[in-house]
Amino acid sequence: MITLKPLERLEKKYSFREKELFNNGSSGKIYFDKGDIIKIPYDFSTGILLNSTGAQKKAFNEAKMQEFAIEMGLKFPEVYGVFAIKEEESGKYYPGFAMRYVKGQTHSSLEGALREKVEMQRKAELNKARDLGFIFNDVNTGNVMWCPEEEQTYLLDCEFWGYRTELI
Ligand SMILES: Nc1ncnc2c1ncn2[C@@H]1O[C@H](COP(=O)(O)OP(=O)(O)O)[C@@H](O)[C@H]1O
Ligand SMILES: [Mg+2]
Repeated sequence: MITLKPLERLEKKYSFREKELFNNGSSGKIYFDKGDIIKIPYDFSTGILLNSTGAQKKAFNEAKMQEFAIEMGLKFPEVYGVFAIKEEESGKYYPGFAMRYVKGQTHSSLEGALREKVEMQRKAELNKARDLGFIFNDVNTGNVMWCPEEEQTYLLDCEFWGYRTELI
């Protein structure tokens, strides 16, 4: 279970080098360690990684939302928890969450028939999410991954997802 704790009390499991960025989103920097993906909140305008209380809450919120979405039956990469993650050069710790690495390609990089197939899976997954009462903005093609080994489409990035609170 994911429990919100101060940075000093989060488990120290992963480390990364800031320069060795795996991918850059609009709100999280993505790193790769021990075969897993780690996502650390950062300030988009300055590019600076964040270790504030707000950043801890942000990492926690997204991890929790992703865990909940999986629990409800949606296809997101499995979440391993929120950790204090060490930047190796500075020795500083940052809050972030770890999840399973989905070996594949984003929807945006696909072409032809495969793109059509993944597009259908994306729509089906989002219809399911809507029926379950989740609220999401446009889930763009950079937030959809195709894993050829599993023949499976995964959603990523539920940072801005919410859910309806009225009865459904
Ligand atoms: N679990 C994962 N497995 C493989 N690649 C990932 C994973 N999570 C993120 N990525 C890659 O990193 C990119 C940015 O991640 P994302 O969670 O969308 O960050 P942001 O919220 O900043 O947009 C994705 O488009 C994808 O290419
Ligand atoms: Mg994204």
